[in-house]
Amino acid sequence: MSVDAKAVKRGAAAAALLLVALLLGWLVVAAPAAQKTAVPAANKAEYVGTDTCKTCHEDQFKSFEVSAHYRTLLDRRGGPARQGCEACHGPGSEHVNSGGQTPMPFDFAKLSTRATSERCLDCHQTGHEQMNFLSSQHARNAVTCTDCHSIHHSGENKFLLVKDQPQLCFNCHREVQPAFRMPFHHRVLEGMVRCTDCHNPHGTFLPKQLRTATAGDQVCFTCHVDKQGPFVFEHEPVKTEGCTACHTPHGSPNPHLLRVANVNQLCLQCHTVSSFSHAPGTPGFHNQAAKYQACTLCHTQIHGSNVNQFFFQ
Ligand code: HEC
Ligand code: HEC
Ligand code: HEC
Ligand code: HEC
Ligand code: HEC
Ligand code: HEC
Ligand code: HEC
Ligand code: HEC
Ligand code: HEC
Ligand code: HEC
Repeated sequence: MSVDAKAVKRGAAAAALLLVALLLGWLVVAAPAAQKTAVPAANKAEYVGTDTCKTCHEDQFKSFEVSAHYRTLLDRRGGPARQGCEACHGPGSEHVNSGGQTPMPFDFAKLSTRATSERCLDCHQTGHEQMNFLSSQHARNAVTCTDCHSIHHSGENKFLLVKDQPQLCFNCHREVQPAFRMPFHHRVLEGMVRCTDCHNPHGTFLPKQLRTATAGDQVCFTCHVDKQGPFVFEHEPVKTEGCTACHTPHGSPNPHLLRVANVNQLCLQCHTVSSFSHAPGTPGFHNQAAKYQACTLCHTQIHGSNVNQFFFQ
């Protein structure tokens, strides 16, 4: 994946930068609340304020002005280290005095993916959505905030996204795209369901960066509440193995998004013919005659029932 190459390049650039910083022997701490991020600020760079930056960077100011980050100018609690341009780029006096020749302490084009993530997380770590980012699949594979978000060039896209989803995700996850073109699928391409309804791109505590519903259950219950139960007679795998024991979440040739084309093949993965061909009271009546192949014609409440042990109603 090209991400890796980019990450390596960035990593190397950042390592070189860090080395220079160490040699010169100046490592300045960024903001009081961000001890872990070292600012390689030349000498004692000071905060000059956003109005100064604006004089030379009108375009970046314009994108900043209409974005949510403008709000940092209104919140004075963190001091200048948490306000405006310098909240991200670091103190700018050296840069300004040199007419732009001395690089800003945080030049994102040259930062490692890790350092970029940490810089953004200085403020966003406390956000419920982002707090697990550093241990996410994305972070561990050198994907960083600025792969998906663009602070100055997001155009009309919501949440400062580089692109809107699902195209944003397909940039890197082409392999899942065909599933959403299958005859039956969650309508992601049509814009009715989003990738982020089920996944949190900032990471979660579940495999595949899957979200949980508000109660901490499987994400599917957010929309398919009726499958949640509890039922007097539970169909065990719904609770123990989860929805994906039987369903493919993205798309399927089966109208009910089943993992296999025909329902009987699904059931027979767990129920061998011998285990039910002698159903109580009716020995041998379950055979593989056509009549019995459409299992859910009789076992209609396949996710669980409050009245019947065999899920007839
Ligand atoms: C929320 C963090 C953040 C804030 C606030 C911010 N920037 Fe940036 N800036 C970035 C990132 C990240 C990049 C790298 C390019 C990108 O992702 O859009 C960048 C890139 C730049 C660049 C390089 C050219 C370019 O457009 O890519 C300039 C110049 C710049 N910023 C100036 C400013 C100025 C001036 C302000 C205040 C008006 C500002 N920035 C506010 C994060 C920020
Ligand atoms: C006197 C004009 C001037 C002022 C004021 C100024 N810059 Fe710059 N800035 C430049 C020039 C010139 C460049 C180099 C542009 C290039 O190489 O394409 C630059 C480049 C940058 C870059 C990209 C490369 C790097 O060095 O990081 C960022 C980010 C940036 N400026 C942010 C800021 C911020 C934030 C402020 C306010 C603290 C600011 N600038 C104030 C002139 C200025
Ligand atoms: C100085 C603190 C600070 C830093 C550093 C910071 N942000 Fe933010 N960010 C904010 C605030 C404040 C908001 C507005 C949040 C709100 O209103 O709930 C915000 C909002 C956002 C949003 C939502 C935008 C929207 O339209 O709703 C995104 C995306 C975002 N930031 C990404 C980033 C990225 C990426 C970085 C690093 C390049 C970053 N932020 C760095 C403070 C910060
Ligand atoms: C793999 C892509 C991806 C990466 C990497 C990523 N984001 Fe996001 N982010 C998104 C998407 C997509 C949304 C919109 C979510 C939605 O529509 O519900 C979003 C939304 C946000 C929001 C606003 C909405 C909210 O619920 O908080 C903030 C703030 C944010 N991201 C910050 C960050 C920061 C900070 C990082 C890095 C630490 C980061 N993001 C990394 C894709 C990404
Ligand atoms: C910049 C490239 C990039 C973008 C954009 C991106 N991803 Fe990823 N994603 C990766 C990489 C790299 C991995 C880790 C390797 C892998 O499993 O493919 C990953 C992993 C994942 C995983 C976990 C896969 C697993 O097998 O555990 C999910 C789920 C995921 N991404 C969803 C999304 C969603 C949803 C979006 C859009 C909001 C998105 N990604 C955007 C690069 C990206
Ligand atoms: C209806 C919920 C849902 C939606 C919508 C959804 N996913 Fe998934 N996705 C899942 C589940 C559940 C899994 C885990 C499948 C498994 O474990 O068998 C998964 C797995 C993945 C994986 C891991 C590889 C794989 O195929 O198992 C990637 C990558 C992924 N999804 C990306 C995306 C992207 C990109 C989108 C939007 C285009 C998206 N998903 C939309 C539920 C969803
Ligand atoms: C954001 C809401 C949402 C989430 C979350 C969601 N679904 Fe769906 N699901 C829908 C909608 C809407 C439909 C209707 C299909 C259509 O016409 O687009 C649907 C259809 C289905 C169907 C086919 C229904 C039929 O007509 O037979 C199955 C099966 C299904 N979802 C399973 C799941 C599973 C499993 C998960 C969790 C991995 C899940 N859904 C998560 C919204 C959601
Ligand atoms: C033991 C296998 C199995 C498990 C586990 C399972 N399902 Fe199903 N599901 C089915 C079958 C079979 C059908 C088709 C029913 C039919 O033919 O009428 C179905 C149909 C559906 C439908 C569409 C028809 C309807 O009743 O609304 C939805 C939505 C659905 N399942 C959601 C879920 C969700 C959400 C989960 C996880 C809580 C889940 N399923 C777990 C087997 C399963
Ligand atoms: C992932 C495995 C799995 C799949 C797939 C599965 N089941 Fe089950 N089913 C079980 C388990 C485990 C039990 C509970 C143990 C038992 O009673 O045999 C059970 C119980 C049942 C029961 C109640 C039996 C009793 O004696 O109370 C019926 C009826 C049933 N399943 C029908 C079906 C049908 C019809 C399908 C296909 C739509 C199906 N099952 C798919 C694992 C599965
Ligand atoms: C024509 C209706 C009908 C169809 C179709 C049907 N079943 Fe049944 N199933 C029953 C009846 C009736 C019982 C027995 C209930 C009883 O003993 O009171 C039963 C019982 C079961 C049991 C429980 C057996 C036990 O010993 O605990 C399982 C498991 C089961 N069926 C699975 C299936 C599967 C899998 C299919 C599809 C291959 C299927 N059924 C198709 C009517 C049907």
